[in-house]
Amino acid sequence: MILVTGGTGLVGSHLLYELSLNNDSIIAIYRNEDKLEKAKKVFSYYTDKSEMLFSKITWIKADITDIPSLEIVFNNTINLVYHCAALVSFDPSDYYLMRQTNIDGTANIVNFSINTKVKKLCFVSSIATIGDAINNEFITEEKEWVLDANKHCYAITKYGAEMEIWRASQEGLDIVIVNPGVILGSGFFNDGTGKLFSKINNGLFFYTEGITGFIGVKDVVKTMVKLTESKIKGERFILVSENLSFKTILYTIANYLNTKKPSIKIGKIATSIFWRLNWLLSKVTRKKVLLSKSSAKSSHNKDFYSSKKITDSLNIEFEKIDSVIKDICKDFSK
Ligand SMILES: NC(=O)c1ccc[n+]([C@@H]2O[C@H](COP(=O)([O-])OP(=O)(O)OC[C@H]3O[C@@H](n4cnc5c(N)ncnc54)[C@H](OP(=O)(O)O)[C@@H]3O)[C@@H](O)[C@H]2O)c1
Repeated sequence: MILVTGGTGLVGSHLLYELSLNNDSIIAIYRNEDKLEKAKKVFSYYTDKSEMLFSKITWIKADITDIPSLEIVFNNTINLVYHCAALVSFDPSDYYLMRQTNIDGTANIVNFSINTKVKKLCFVSSIATIGDAINNEFITEEKEWVLDANKHCYAITKYGAEMEIWRASQEGLDIVIVNPGVILGSGFFNDGTGKLFSKINNGLFFYTEGITGFIGVKDVVKTMVKLTESKIKGERFILVSENLSFKTILYTIANYLNTKKPSIKIGKIATSIFWRLNWLLSKVTRKKVLLSKSSAKSSHNKDFYSSKKITDSLNIEFEKIDSVIKDICKDFSK
């Protein structure tokens, strides 16, 4: 049996589709019935046999922070675990919930995997857990992450989660870690990176010229499956197709959605004023912040990631981001 956590999210749902093509014994966990429909919708972007493929999955209601619910899941004979579940947030007020979900939740998955003798675990980490570049050089897996005042709470919790996976490796579990850049994929257009497409469609005016690594979700999940099926273990791999500016990404989306490009460049001073005002407003209105201090800063960073380790190890090439965005825009317009 294969177990997928986070199957009702962007990465997990695309992964479930990929796995459903060649496997009949798949368990996925969910928390909320409504999200199952969203996962099924992802299958429909690929095929008109979505009902048949989706029905191959056995869904069990479970929360990675709730041990009794995980006991029921791991009562099945699980050979492979793909751990994609996480709370992705850049709002500092989510920090404690993120620690609980990302670090404690991962520790639970690791402990059950060790105790039930799972053969291999593939963990979705992030480029947020890789160290910063000095002098604009390409960032590789070797760059050590160091905690400093600029680290956002999401990065801290993903780093903590990765430490749990390395612990599992020390305790004898075969593990492999992927560290994707910003993931772009169809579905979930009201959440996460999917919001970029909705926002551009509704008329987004602002952009920054920060640069980071981007990758299509199809490449992420195909690489996860290849790594899990390979003999590779105890390694982490950056997954980035291209390092591009937010301006390029937003312009490309606008181009394929045939809508207006954002025209106002936001500089460092403007974002630093905005996050402070927004923070004050959030205290008064008790609403979530739209832009945190660390997100404001990182929107101007220029980081270049190298995917040489994975492309050499598996002899693969990632799809260009222009083509990834073109396909997503077609699905968005459906
Ligand atoms: N999206 C990106 O750009 C990106 C980039 C790099 C790395 N990553 C990593 O990739 C992984 C997947 O991200 P994503 O973009 O697919 O996120 P997502 O769309 O927000 O999905 C998150 C998934 O985790 C599940 N989850 C959250 N808390 C849980 C809990 N306590 N118990 C069980 N399930 C829980 C969610 O379930 P519900 O549906 O019930 O909420 C959902 O299925 C994460 O580990 C993330 O850190 C993402």
